[in-house]
Amino acid sequence: MSYLIGVDCGTSGTKTVLFDQTGAVIASNTIEYPMYQPKNGYAEQDPTDWANAMINTIKAVMSQSGVDKHDVKGIGISGQMHGLVMLDKNGEPLRRSIIWCDQRTAAQVDKMNDILGREKLIKITANPALTGWTAAKILWVRDNEPEIYEKCCHILLPKDYLRYVLTGEFATEVSDASGMQLLDVPNRCWSDEVCSALGIDKSLLAKVYESCEVTGTVSAKMAEITGLAEGTIVVGGAGDNAAAAVGTGVVEDGKAFTTIGTSGVVFAHTSSISIDPKGRVHTCCAAVPGSWHVMGVTQGAGLSLKWFRDNFCASEKETARYMGVDEYYLMDKEAATVEVGSNRLLYLPYLMGERTPHLDPDARGVFFGLSAMHTKKEMLRAVLEGVSYSLRDCVEVFREMDIKVSDMMACGGGGTSALWRSMLADLYCCPVKTVTSKQGPALGVALLAAVGAGIYSSVPEACNAVIKTDKIQQPNEENIAEYEKYYQLYREIYPALKDSFAKLAVM
Ligand code: XUL
Repeated sequence: MSYLIGVDCGTSGTKTVLFDQTGAVIASNTIEYPMYQPKNGYAEQDPTDWANAMINTIKAVMSQSGVDKHDVKGIGISGQMHGLVMLDKNGEPLRRSIIWCDQRTAAQVDKMNDILGREKLIKITANPALTGWTAAKILWVRDNEPEIYEKCCHILLPKDYLRYVLTGEFATEVSDASGMQLLDVPNRCWSDEVCSALGIDKSLLAKVYESCEVTGTVSAKMAEITGLAEGTIVVGGAGDNAAAAVGTGVVEDGKAFTTIGTSGVVFAHTSSISIDPKGRVHTCCAAVPGSWHVMGVTQGAGLSLKWFRDNFCASEKETARYMGVDEYYLMDKEAATVEVGSNRLLYLPYLMGERTPHLDPDARGVFFGLSAMHTKKEMLRAVLEGVSYSLRDCVEVFREMDIKVSDMMACGGGGTSALWRSMLADLYCCPVKTVTSKQGPALGVALLAAVGAGIYSSVPEACNAVIKTDKIQQPNEENIAEYEKYYQLYREIYPALKDSFAKLAVM
C-alpha cells in the first residue's frame, strides 16, 4: 500500500493527515497557535509557529501510524492564502506574517489603483486591488518598515514557507500565487508588467509550478527530525480553497462548494476563465492544470461563531466538557430551538471587514433589531443566519456572472453542522451535499501528491477514485420563503451603514 501526507496550515492551527492511497485516514494530528491583533484590523501570525506545528504534526502521524517511511510516496501542503512571509538572506523570517484577514493596507490599495489602474489590474491579475492580498502588504512593509524591506531576499506565502522548511526550495504554485496579485492569472506566470509597475523585484518571488508538479524533496535534516524518508517528493499543493475543491471533487464545471472555516468561501470550478468586472468575487487558477475557479469570500464566517463562543458561551464550554461533546454541537442544538429569522434579529458578520460583495475593510459586525426579549440563543442563531446570508451574497454574484452551479458541496468545520447546511440549502434553493471524507484541504493536497507521485494520472482521475458523496440536505419550501424576507432586509443594512463604518474607522 502507498501512503500520502496532506499538511494544511490554517488560521487556527496546522493539521497533518496521513492517508492511504484510497483516501482513508491512517493518522491525523493538529497543533493550534495564536493570531496576533496588535491593532483593530491587524492580523499577524508567527511563521515559526507554523513550522513547529508542521514538524510536530508530521512527527506525530509518522510515529502514531507505524507506517514505513518509504511507503509515504508524496506530500502536499495547503494553507491559508495571501499571507506575507519575508525572509532574510539566511532564510530567516524578518517579521511576523501579515495574514489574509489583515486590513491595514487601504493606502497601498489606492496606490496600486493609481499606478496601474483598476481595469488593467483586473485584466492581468483577474482581481481588483484588495487590502488582504499579498501585493498591498508588500507595499505596506516597504512604506512603513523600510529597514525590514531592505533586508528581504525572499517573499513566500504561508504554505510555501513550510515547503521551504521541509525542502529548502523557494517555490509556489498557481492557485495560491493567484492570491498575491502579482500573477498573470490567465497565463499562469508572474506578471512582469505588474511587478515592475509596483517596483517589486521579481527575483524576490518563488518559482511558479502547477499544483500537482513536484517542487522538491524532503531534506536530510527534516527527514531526521520528522521521521520521513529523505527524498520524499513534495508537490506544489494549493491554497486552502483550491485544495478543498480537490478534496471535495469540485474539479469540473457545474460543481461548487461552500466552506465555513475561519473565513467562509463559495467556490465554483470553471474550465474557461471568468472574471467579475466589478471585482466582487475572486478569479484564481485552479489546482487542476488548465482551469480556474471563482470564489466569493466572507471574512468572518466561522470566526463569527468562534468569537461568539469565546465571549458569550462559557457555560456551553463547561457543559460540553462535562458531557464529553463538542461545544459547537451544543451551540447548534441551542440555535435549532429558535425559529427562522431569530425572532427578528439579524447579524452582519463583518468582524474583519468584508470582501464579497462589498470590498470594504472598514465594515464591522452588527446585530440589527436587538430587543429586550432576545436572549443568547437568538443571538447565536442570528450569527449562523448572518453568515449564511453573506454566503448567499456570493452565490448571487455567481448568478449575475452566469456561472451555473448544479452541485453544491459543504465542507470546513461549519459544513459539519446540519443546521448550517440546512440554512445554506434554503438560502441557495438547491441541495447541499457533503462528502464522506471530512479532510477537505488536507485530502486535496494528498491527492495532488498522489498525482505527482504517478499513482493517478490526473487530478479528476484521483478525485473519481477517492471522493464519495455522503449526506444530501434538500431545501425546505416553507423556510425558503421565510429566509428570503430576512435576506432581502439583510441586503438593505450594509448600504445604510456604509458611511457610518467609514467614520468609525477614523475615530
Ligand atoms: C481566500 C481567503 C481565505 C484564506 C484563509 O481568499 O482569504 O479563505 O485562504 O483560509
